[in-house]
Amino acid sequence: MDREPFDHVWIHARLATFDPRVPTPCGLLEDHAIAVRGDSIAAVLLSSAPEVRSHRGAVTDCGGKLVTPGFIDCHTHSVWGGSRAAEWELRLAGVPYTEIAKRGGGILSTVRATRGLSEEELFQSAVPCVQSLIREGVTCVEIKSGYGLTFDDELKMLRVARRLGERLNVDVSPTLLAAHAVPPEFAGRADDYVSLIVDEMIPVVAREKLADAVDVFCESIAFTSAQCDRIFSAAKAHGLAIKGHVEQITNSHGAELVARHGGWSADHLEHLDDAGIAAMAKSGTVAVLLPGAFYFLREKQKPPVEKLRAAGVALAVASDFNPGTSPFASIRLAMNMACVLYGLSPEEALAGVTREAAKALGRGERLGTLEAGKRADFLVWDVTHPAEIVCQLGVTPLVGRVVSGKNCDA
Ligand code: NIG
Ligand code: FE
Repeated sequence: MDREPFDHVWIHARLATFDPRVPTPCGLLEDHAIAVRGDSIAAVLLSSAPEVRSHRGAVTDCGGKLVTPGFIDCHTHSVWGGSRAAEWELRLAGVPYTEIAKRGGGILSTVRATRGLSEEELFQSAVPCVQSLIREGVTCVEIKSGYGLTFDDELKMLRVARRLGERLNVDVSPTLLAAHAVPPEFAGRADDYVSLIVDEMIPVVAREKLADAVDVFCESIAFTSAQCDRIFSAAKAHGLAIKGHVEQITNSHGAELVARHGGWSADHLEHLDDAGIAAMAKSGTVAVLLPGAFYFLREKQKPPVEKLRAAGVALAVASDFNPGTSPFASIRLAMNMACVLYGLSPEEALAGVTREAAKALGRGERLGTLEAGKRADFLVWDVTHPAEIVCQLGVTPLVGRVVSGKNCDA
């Protein structure tokens, strides 16, 4: 007998497909079914379709509940040692982030603590954080290095990221962010540190497939655009993708640089100018909005969301989960902040953690929407309206999680 065309069918769902070809808000399709074969969506059909009715394999009845694509947190620093709570107290008392960084605190304080932990200790401390993201519906998470800043410690962080993906039920996209801060051993010799990144770290990370992309902090307190340019050229030469922390505190024209290199995403963007927007629109670089850092740093300058929208730049939203500027492991809070602080619509925020976030990780072909051919990562929500996922915090109305075509505990 022929094998059934589908392994498992989820029926009676309100699908928020985020498929751009479906012309309803959120690409909504009432009373539809998702038919899965292996780890992929084989078809999206009406629940009443003959192929669904004749299916003899596994069936899950969603009872009319809302189903969205799995969430993708496309910018996190989920692996670190130590705590920056005391520094937060200083910031609340008025000491600026840049001043704390100049005094050797900020990123460098996390670097000291991270270097002091073994790979196993780092892994153990990251597990509950990543689990928190998973419990909110994250099925794919980007995790950066950047708190090691030596060859061994950066690779240690990337191995922890890889292990998190192997041990937890989540897809991890690891990123090398060795250019996060100039390490103390290289004080006054940033170009020599860039040479270490370019000549030693990038070739090995690429060869051992420890990262998908290379990120930089292009900023007055970190690396110049000329230094980032060297790093991006090396990344490309070794087949790694490009992304950047740019225009967060000042405009250093990092977005234009990322765009010129065909980067996947330019992130933060509070001080982005018109030339940066035009460059991103031209190259198809995704704008990753990180309202958590804006909130925690009590920034005043918002990213130019309306202009980005008008220029047709894709808008993604991420938690930027890190111990200093965005210390919360919640993609839903990030979405909420993107609406309240930056003026995104709830639909844009949801698209920003699904369809657009997939593009920001170079995975738009495989993740981010409910369409045939995409990986079967989706979430079942007990809500009356998609906006409820973004609006109501503290309780997570997630009642079903499907990862790579398998039902998991919600
Ligand atoms: O995305 N901007 C630079 N990097 C992080 C902050 C990391 C830290 O303060 O530890 C960010 O905000
Ligand atoms: Fe960041």
